[in-house]
Amino acid sequence: MKLCRLALFSQLLLLASVDALPFGSRVSKDSVEDDSSNDGVTQEKKSVRGATSKVARQSSTDVLTKFYAQNGDDASSLELKNEIHNLANSTSMQHFLVTARRSLHRHPEVMYQEEFTSEVIQDILKELDIPFTTGWAKNAHPDVFPGEGGYGIVAHIGSQSEDQPCIILRADMDALPILEQTKYIDEFKSRTDNKMHACGHDGHVTMLLGAAALLKSVEAKIPGTVRLLFQPAEEGGAGGKRMVEEGAVSLSPQAQHAFGMHVWPTLPTGAVASRSGPLLAAAEMFEIHVEGKGGHAAMPHLTKDPIVAVSSLVLNLQTIVARNVSPLESGVISVTQVTSGDAFNVIPANAIVKGTIRALSTERLMELRDKVQSMTMATISDVYGCNATISFSPDFYPPTVNDENLFQWSKEIGALVSKEGTLRDIEPTMGGEDFAFIAEAVPSTFFLIGQGSGGSENEKYHVPRTDFGLHHPSFALDEHVMPIGVELHSNLAIRSILKLALEKENTTAEK
Ligand SMILES: *[C@@H]1O[C@H](CO)[C@@H](O)[C@H](O)[C@H]1NC(C)=O
Ligand SMILES: *[C@@H]1O[C@H](CO)[C@@H](O)[C@H](O)[C@H]1NC(C)=O
Ligand SMILES: *[C@@H]1O[C@H](CO)[C@@H](O)[C@H](O)[C@H]1NC(C)=O
Repeated sequence: MKLCRLALFSQLLLLASVDALPFGSRVSKDSVEDDSSNDGVTQEKKSVRGATSKVARQSSTDVLTKFYAQNGDDASSLELKNEIHNLANSTSMQHFLVTARRSLHRHPEVMYQEEFTSEVIQDILKELDIPFTTGWAKNAHPDVFPGEGGYGIVAHIGSQSEDQPCIILRADMDALPILEQTKYIDEFKSRTDNKMHACGHDGHVTMLLGAAALLKSVEAKIPGTVRLLFQPAEEGGAGGKRMVEEGAVSLSPQAQHAFGMHVWPTLPTGAVASRSGPLLAAAEMFEIHVEGKGGHAAMPHLTKDPIVAVSSLVLNLQTIVARNVSPLESGVISVTQVTSGDAFNVIPANAIVKGTIRALSTERLMELRDKVQSMTMATISDVYGCNATISFSPDFYPPTVNDENLFQWSKEIGALVSKEGTLRDIEPTMGGEDFAFIAEAVPSTFFLIGQGSGGSENEKYHVPRTDFGLHHPSFALDEHVMPIGVELHSNLAIRSILKLALEKENTTAEK
């Protein structure tokens, strides 16, 4: 099944150079009319392959052999840190990171439609001679999210031996339905209206690919397996859940740890942050359809007014957190969309209310969800005599919880890579993240990488400011954090494999 898909992709790639079909739907109208558009995409893929082949030829010394032979003592650990830093910051790596990331940025794709993104990743993995399988994260709810999905990729570097440790590094792939308004990036601005990499996933994919190139160049010296997960549909589609269900964690060799990371605009560029326990929130989305009885605006007594009903509901929903959650705990209920009516003298028959619920535990999330449901029914039907149906997203997100034991180890690696020389221990945030499903399946750490102090609006530089929030239409990735991501992934992989090997030796010795 997966092999067939692979064959299909290479067929598509061949076609790409001959006619307009494979990419026609993804380029903007302007470029479709421009004869050179397809050549543009073909050329772009060629540059990405070229940049990949250069970074693939980076050679490293025997620092890694020494590191493993000396059980990561202080001297070999410092040497390794410097070696990884130099490889991650080399000219060929920087060139690769910028070329690949900008190509992904030009072609944003929303959840379960990440076809081009998947092709670019596969092209790079092939160029790096890294084996992979495709077809991961099929869309289980095509009635809710359009697209069949299956654009996820699982790749392997290392021995793939069941007797040696295996760890996961993961990156998310999808973009958002936002019209890009980022300044000073004309050369690589989104080519598709209303689609944009406004959450940095183009950077996440690229950082993981950079680490893949680095790790591949020392593959023979790694006593274990690094599994790379390129995961679609993070923005509400639970692609992470699909990949866990499809076996991406339990696959042989069974993974023992997983690591993920996210660029973070509210932290300064180069800072690395995380915390033990829940880091990101459990998240649920709701949609309420209200059915009243429409009529003349001058005769409200003959109607069941859905606008008054939902106005009251929006206010009542605010009291749930205020009066049900302990002031020392966290919870959020935000109504984000209200739609109804289309004339100034007609009371409409229907209204729709949408929003999201957040909490730091699944238990608390479920409590809030029940309250939203009962408050909706009571307000809409009991008080206002309208009917309401409420629906929730097909897969709520659990909180992203960092394993407490693993965190004690991971924070040292974060500190090693951080420009600040220490890992910032931060408060949890109410953003949701579907790495949560992976972290439920295997002890994990998720990191935030600061990117908020880059760029400048100075006429002279014209580099976009990087402190716009995630999902903001002016969001800009700070490309300087990509080598930091490469370093963090690489250190986590190489060092956690030694940690796991030593732990195994210890338990064997005890027996
Ligand atoms: C990374 O490399 C660039 C040159 O490509 C150099 O200017 C910069 O100082 C290096 N950064 C670090 C932290 O080594
Ligand atoms: C609500 O649903 C009931 C049962 O289907 C129906 O009889 C009633 O007319 C509905 N009320 C409104 C205001 O639509
Ligand atoms: C292995 O056991 C030794 C002795 O008990 C201990 O000092 C060390 O921390 C252990 N190492 C690991 C990786 O668990």
